[in-house]
Amino acid sequence: MFSKSVIRSSRVLARGFASTARAERNVAVLGAAGGIGQPMSLLLKTDPLVTKLSLYDVRGAPGVAADISHVNTHSEVKGFEKDDIGAALKGAEIVVIPAGVPRKPGMTRDDLFNTNASIVKSLAEACAEHCPKAHILIISNPVNSTVPIFAEVYKQKGVFDEKRIFGVTTLDVVRASRFLGEIKSKDPKDVKVTVVGGHSGVTIIPLLSQVEAGKDVSGQQYKDLVKRIQFGGDEVVQAKAGTGSATLSMGFAGARFTNSLIRAMNGESNVVEPTFVLSPLYKDQGVSYFASNVELGPEGVKKIHPVGSLSAEEEELMKACLPELKKNIEKGEQFVKA
Ligand code: NAI
Repeated sequence: MFSKSVIRSSRVLARGFASTARAERNVAVLGAAGGIGQPMSLLLKTDPLVTKLSLYDVRGAPGVAADISHVNTHSEVKGFEKDDIGAALKGAEIVVIPAGVPRKPGMTRDDLFNTNASIVKSLAEACAEHCPKAHILIISNPVNSTVPIFAEVYKQKGVFDEKRIFGVTTLDVVRASRFLGEIKSKDPKDVKVTVVGGHSGVTIIPLLSQVEAGKDVSGQQYKDLVKRIQFGGDEVVQAKAGTGSATLSMGFAGARFTNSLIRAMNGESNVVEPTFVLSPLYKDQGVSYFASNVELGPEGVKKIHPVGSLSAEEEELMKACLPELKKNIEKGEQFVKA
């Protein structure tokens, strides 16, 4: 699953190992025993750029860690549960958070707010105390609100760094690439779709007009494709019939984003991923967080790319996205301020 540049990077690390210190990359996963946490932790164990993996969950993470630790890659794996979160976060440079409840059929991501807002707030408090400089990758839904919640806690604790808090929207990018590739009979690896906005329903905007393979998709086919990218998560929720939402594809997406960030931290240039961050792009319209292409660097966000030119259809999608996104962001901020 790792790109040529990762393999190149790991070779560089391997070659450099004898003479220079290996870049230590310590990753903690919070919610590691869950549907996403388990496959994502396994993929992180197979990533040659991860050197230490700390798996935490309120329950079950030591078992998951014992299991994953037998995979014969060099990284060290430890499991933590219950009150042991401080030990799990000690020394973490990247914290990936898939903790919280998933959707059941008929639910929107916003329906998860009441439960997940409190979970994310408490995890933000723990991270602020134990690893305030770590990069934080938030998967827990609703991402449009949980990222602002995390940021508000950090502001209150005086440790906020806008460059280090990311909402993981990679699954939308993965789906867009896969679904457009299917329609065009192309290998998804050659179909790179930028997805901007937020991570729920109408806030998800695939910029098909900016991709060679997507430019000529029109009419009903365009509408169906956009809808499938925006509501692809519902397909999985329905197919799982009450037992959860996307976990395996999300595990893949979360491991991919983590790998991109580590490559950038290790000095690779031009690592660009769409992600939901504090952003100036639509601030004048009251939308303070927005997903767009972001160049990653050693300090996290290096450069936020503008969305570029939009087709008439994409302008319409943006009109539907912004008010909903604004509402979701404010709801998250209010939750902490209140
Ligand atoms: P799950 O229920 O299978 O696993 C969640 C895990 O979190 C459980 O093991 C639970 O014990 C743990 N947990 C609960 N409270 C915790 C706390 N305070 N500290 C540490 N761990 C805690 O759920 P699943 O399917 O793994 O989904 C997790 C979240 O990810 C959900 O909110 C879901 O909506 C979201 N999600 C996000 C996606 C995205 O694209 N960003 C895609 C799919 C799901």
